[in-house]
Amino acid sequence: MLSLPALVQTCDDPEHYQPMSKHSRAIPLRARRSGPLTGAVRPPGDKSISHRSLMLGALAIGETTVEGLLEGEDVLATAAAMRAFGATVTRTGDGAWSVKGLGVGGLLEPEGIIDYGNAGTGVRLAMGIAGSHAFAATFTGDASLVGRPMGRVFDPLRRMGVQVLARSGDRLPATLRGPDMPVPIEYRLPVASAQVKSAVLLAGLNVPGTTTVIEPVPTRDHTERMLYAFGAAIETETGADGARVIRLEGRTDLKPQKIVVPGDPSSAAFPIIAAVIVEGSDVTVANVLMNPTRFGLVETLIEMGADIAIENRRKVGGEDIGDVRVKGGRLKGMAVPAERAPSMIDEYPALAIAAAFAEGDTRFDGIGELRVKESDRIASVVAGLTANGIAVEEGPESIVIHGASRVAGGGTVTTHLDHRIAMSFLVLGMASDEPVTVDDGAPIATSFPEFRAMMTGLGADIAEADLG
Ligand code: S3P
Repeated sequence: MLSLPALVQTCDDPEHYQPMSKHSRAIPLRARRSGPLTGAVRPPGDKSISHRSLMLGALAIGETTVEGLLEGEDVLATAAAMRAFGATVTRTGDGAWSVKGLGVGGLLEPEGIIDYGNAGTGVRLAMGIAGSHAFAATFTGDASLVGRPMGRVFDPLRRMGVQVLARSGDRLPATLRGPDMPVPIEYRLPVASAQVKSAVLLAGLNVPGTTTVIEPVPTRDHTERMLYAFGAAIETETGADGARVIRLEGRTDLKPQKIVVPGDPSSAAFPIIAAVIVEGSDVTVANVLMNPTRFGLVETLIEMGADIAIENRRKVGGEDIGDVRVKGGRLKGMAVPAERAPSMIDEYPALAIAAAFAEGDTRFDGIGELRVKESDRIASVVAGLTANGIAVEEGPESIVIHGASRVAGGGTVTTHLDHRIAMSFLVLGMASDEPVTVDDGAPIATSFPEFRAMMTGLGADIAEADLG
C-alpha cells in the first residue's frame, strides 16, 4: 500500500527545500487599482529550462553549473528529486547552482517517496528518467498534482517495459519499476505535450537503440535543444505531413555544461499584461526568452494592438533573448488561432485579463489542455472573470470574453492551488474599478516567488487580505 510521506518544509533554505504536499496556510491577497506602472524588471529564470538543467546535469558525468536558475518551489522540488537519485546538487556562494551527475543510467534507487509538490513538469520528466532505470521509485504531489492525468506518461513508459503501479489508474501516487532491458519505442504523441515528449526522450537516454517521438503539433523544444547541447545523439526532422520526428540514440554519454537560464516568458506575461491594461504605463521586461515555441503571447498582444517593442535582441546559450518594452493602451479583441495554443499554452489566463479590457470579443479556441493544468483553467478563468463583472462564455475547449473599457472588479477568486490563476487575477485588480481578491496567493511561490515585490516595485498595490 502506498502512503504519503511526512515532510519538512524548509523554504527559506532553497538548497535544502523539500516540497510539502499537505498545504500550509493559505495567503489571501488583494490588488487595488494602481497608477501608471513604470520601470524595468527581470523575470525569474525559465521554469522549463531550469527543470531540464538540473535533470540533464544529474545525467551527465561531471559538474554542470547553472546560472539564473528559477528558485521557485517547482524547480527546488526537482533539485530535491535529483538529490534523491544520488546526484549532488548545491547552490554555490554566488547564487549559481552546481550539479554533479552520475551519468546516463547511473542514478541510484531513491530511499523515500519523491514528493513533487505542485510540479507537473517536474514529476512527468522525472518519471521518464526513473522509468528506464532498473529500480523502483514512488512519486506523489499536492492536492492539485494528484488530480492531474499521468496516463499520458505511463502509457509510453509501459511500452518501454516499465511497470507502473498507480493508486487510481492514471493518477499519483505511483510507483514505477524500470526493466533490466528497456526497449526503444516509436511514439506518436496523442496530445500536444512537451512534457510527454520530454518524458519519452529522457527515458530513451538509457534505452539501447533509437527512441523516436513523432510530434504532429510542435511544442516547446527545450529538451531537444538541451540534449543536443549536452552531446546526446539526437536529430529532428520535419516529416512530409509537417509533423516533427525526433530520434534519439540511447546509451551515449552526456557532457556537463555551463548553463545560463534566460528569463521566463510565462512569468514575464504578468508584468507585460499589467503594463498593457494600466493606463499610462511604461515597463521594460528585460532578458526574456523569445524561443518561437514560447512567444505566442507577445505575437497575439501585438495583433490586438498593444504598444510593444522588442529591444536589445541577443543570443544567450543558443536561445534568442530580448527586452520587451510595453506601454499601456487600448486593445482590440480577436480570435486567437487554435494552432498558436502550444506556443502560449500557459499564458491564456493572463491573456484573458487583457481580453477583458479589449474592445469587442476575444475567442480562445483549441484550449482543451487547459482543463488539466494546475487547475481546470477554463473553469477557473470563467469563474474569476464572472465574479468580477466580465461577460464570458465557456465551451468544452474554448472561451469567449466580451471585453469592455471598464471592469467592475470587486470579486474574490478561488485559485485552486494554481499560481497562474492567482497572478492573473491580481493583475486584473490593478486596472479594475474595485479591488480583486484571490483566496490563496501561496502557490505563486511555485514559479514566481518575487512576483509581489516585483509588481509593487513597478507601482502596483498588492497586499495581504483578510477574508474574515
Ligand atoms: C511544460 C510543458 C507544458 C506547460 C508546462 C511546462 C514543459 O505542459 O504547460 O507549464 O516544461 O515541458 P504540457 O506539455 O502538458 O502542455
